[in-house]
Amino acid sequence: MRNTTFLRAGAVAAVASLALVACGSGDDDAAGGGGESKTLKLALNQTEQHPSFIALENFGKRLKESTGGRLSIQVYPNETLGAQQETLQLVSDGTVDLAIVSGTQLENLNKDFSVFNMPLAFTSVEGQMKVVNDPKTVGDLYSSLESSNKITVVGAFTQGTRNVYSKKGPVNTPADLKGQKIRVQESDLHTSMISAMGASATPMAFGEVYTALQAGVLDGAENNEVSYVTQKHFEVAKYYSRTNHLVGLDYLVVNSDLVKGFSAEDKAAFDKEWAAAWAEHTDLWGKETDKAVAAAEAAGAKFNDVDAAAFEAALEPLKAKFLTSDVQKKLYETAQAAG
Ligand code: GCU
Repeated sequence: MRNTTFLRAGAVAAVASLALVACGSGDDDAAGGGGESKTLKLALNQTEQHPSFIALENFGKRLKESTGGRLSIQVYPNETLGAQQETLQLVSDGTVDLAIVSGTQLENLNKDFSVFNMPLAFTSVEGQMKVVNDPKTVGDLYSSLESSNKITVVGAFTQGTRNVYSKKGPVNTPADLKGQKIRVQESDLHTSMISAMGASATPMAFGEVYTALQAGVLDGAENNEVSYVTQKHFEVAKYYSRTNHLVGLDYLVVNSDLVKGFSAEDKAAFDKEWAAAWAEHTDLWGKETDKAVAAAEAAGAKFNDVDAAAFEAALEPLKAKFLTSDVQKKLYETAQAAG
């Protein structure tokens, strides 16, 4: 990972300016020790309206209170610090403290993460959140990148159910996607997933999708209703078809050296407030999804159901290809059992 990611110019400038911000704020890197305070920098690729931004801002406020001001969080939204592939690298390097990254990014570092990115692995947000925040199930997985990449996974937010949307017209069966260029996240599994669903997969960073749709480089994309609206994709691709192919996951990652340097008291506060953050996020998710659908419909977007059995059948062969080890099969069974 370390040698393969390149920072784009905008992100380089933003990260360079972080050094100045840190100097100007009088922060001390010895977090949790000697009464010093530290503002943790958290990278996010969503807007300020997104439930993740709201829950993370509140996480920061509560953390500050619980630690008597020793730890607080500054959330940088809208890919200000770079796209997820880049911010994951920055957390690994210790330039950025925390980031929210999609499961697809972690799959590129450890294939076992791809189990939870499998289409139809989870069928409900409630079942998903039980599994992905249970240390007995995910403890080994979440610490698996510490020695190789200095990345610790703290826990997960739901991405809700992802569906396909297109500029061309409503999708009912895989045949309707034939010849359409559909954006996917940078993941082998998701590239295979969209191909199996009948389309031509185009991997691309999140922040580039609107312009690519507008320019006709893409015919469509796949995402949840909240991102469809907060990213304004409904303006340029108005047919949203409920393929329900995936309940996705975002992970909170932290630099391993940083978190290991927390005092026991501050680590306990961090874990407690994170648990409150994902609970708040899960609660917000359903409400914000309903609001997003109403807003998109009011702006002329069209939502439709699809031939679910046809998509399920198309996706079935992915299991044999991507669930290869015993660890992966066991995690998949746990996900399926949770619903
Ligand atoms: C969702 C998810 C993001 C992800 C994005 C994408 O919005 O929450 O973490 O980056 O999908 O499709 O890239």
